[in-house]
Amino acid sequence: MVIRKALTVAGSDSGGGAGIQADLKTFAALGVHGMSVITSITAQNTYEVRAVHDIPLEVIKSQFEAVVDDIGVDAAKTGMLSNSRIIELVASLIRKYDVKVVVDPVMIAKSGALLLREDAVDTLIKELIPLATVVTPNKPEAERLSNTLIKDLSDAKVVAKKLVDGLGATAAVVKGGHMSEEESVDVMYYEGRFYEFRALRVRSKNTHGTGCSFSAAIAAEIAKGKPIPEAVRTAKEFITTAIAYGLPIGKGYGPVNPTAWQLLPAERYRVLQILEDAVKLVENRSSYLVNLIPESQSEIVMTLPKHYVRGVADVAGVPGKIVRVRDKVRATHPPKFGVDSKLSKVLIRLVGTYEGVSAAASIKYDELVDMVVKELGLKVEYVDLDVYLRQSAETLGSALRESAAPDILFYRGGWGREPLSVVLGSDALDVVGKMLRIGERYEAVVSK
Ligand SMILES: Nc1ncnc2c1ncn2[C@@H]1O[C@H](COP(=O)(O)OP(=O)(O)OP(=O)(O)O)[C@@H](O)[C@H]1O
Ligand SMILES: [Mg+2]
Repeated sequence: MVIRKALTVAGSDSGGGAGIQADLKTFAALGVHGMSVITSITAQNTYEVRAVHDIPLEVIKSQFEAVVDDIGVDAAKTGMLSNSRIIELVASLIRKYDVKVVVDPVMIAKSGALLLREDAVDTLIKELIPLATVVTPNKPEAERLSNTLIKDLSDAKVVAKKLVDGLGATAAVVKGGHMSEEESVDVMYYEGRFYEFRALRVRSKNTHGTGCSFSAAIAAEIAKGKPIPEAVRTAKEFITTAIAYGLPIGKGYGPVNPTAWQLLPAERYRVLQILEDAVKLVENRSSYLVNLIPESQSEIVMTLPKHYVRGVADVAGVPGKIVRVRDKVRATHPPKFGVDSKLSKVLIRLVGTYEGVSAAASIKYDELVDMVVKELGLKVEYVDLDVYLRQSAETLGSALRESAAPDILFYRGGWGREPLSVVLGSDALDVVGKMLRIGERYEAVVSK
């Protein structure tokens, strides 16, 4: 097995949103071994940079050499290099060890603080950009580096070409995060050709670390041996996901979420596994549950963790429902994501309202179920499920968030044709556990 190694040469962000911290998360999410050379320490949070301490040159050099001498570097990226002497040193190390490098010409933090001294821009242009495999300026940085105003996509193309033909980078990506179009378009110039990388602009405040994670993602893909256009394409998908699931923490710009790239597929797999186990349990304990299957049959659904729920695409369930076949209960299909049903929509509302709810199942409602559930001491709420579907999550949220989640919702009629109960739980197994308790007790009462 070949282990690919990527290095970030950048500043530390104590808030964990940008810099070294964002880069290492990105490297890990993309499956390469991440290493770091810290150039400056910033005391920073989501809204301000409080202090900057530059690391002594010999310590920067020593970190770089320690890594190169032993582990080796398949690709590197540079981020915050706060003054001319640091830039010169890093450039000389990259030249000496002939490292492929993505240069993110960081000048200003998201909060507006200057991260690079004015006079250092010339050093950046002279020393570092000519060594860049890819240079990734945002709009203001690209304008500063090229002395050209950028108003639209064609200006961005002119500048990308200047950064290659004039300043000597191998490839240049002018990023579109600071533009205002519906899409965030990044323009690349490489080997005489233009490329456009497009993604819908995410309306979010949680964009701290977009530039760092994006350039780190390019470096990770280059470390894997990917051609530049492919590396940038993957990095663009990667950063779009990281922004879409950014973390609403702190008072300012919350951090992007590089982990989402791996977490989403992993969570989808986990949810399907739990649903499969839950369905197996339902089938094996059929005899206790047959009495609870309503005319309209039963449904069981489970969502991704709350932060990742956007719509029914993030709800998994058994398509075709859980049905009663004589004295047995059977699932008609294996579970899958994207079950677009009323129960899925009700569950999404509930997930938005209560902490810790992520699964639901529909069973029948009758007076005996009502009685048994109360005997068991489960927390009950009587609701109108149609009203649930009509109300906005917000209205519901402010109305209900105070209280703990109920175990079961009773709906005494009107949804479709029959009354229903909705059993709630932290996951599908928790829900089936409650169904079994209700079913056993129900059975005992009926057979008396
Ligand atoms: N709101 C958004 N929606 C979608 N993509 C975005 C958004 N904002 C930025 N991007 C993308 O994120 C990447 C980083 O671009 P951006 O222009 O934000 O870099 P930056 O200004 O250097 O970021 P930073 O301030 O973190 O250094 C680019 O691929 C850009 O298109
Ligand atoms: Mg940036």
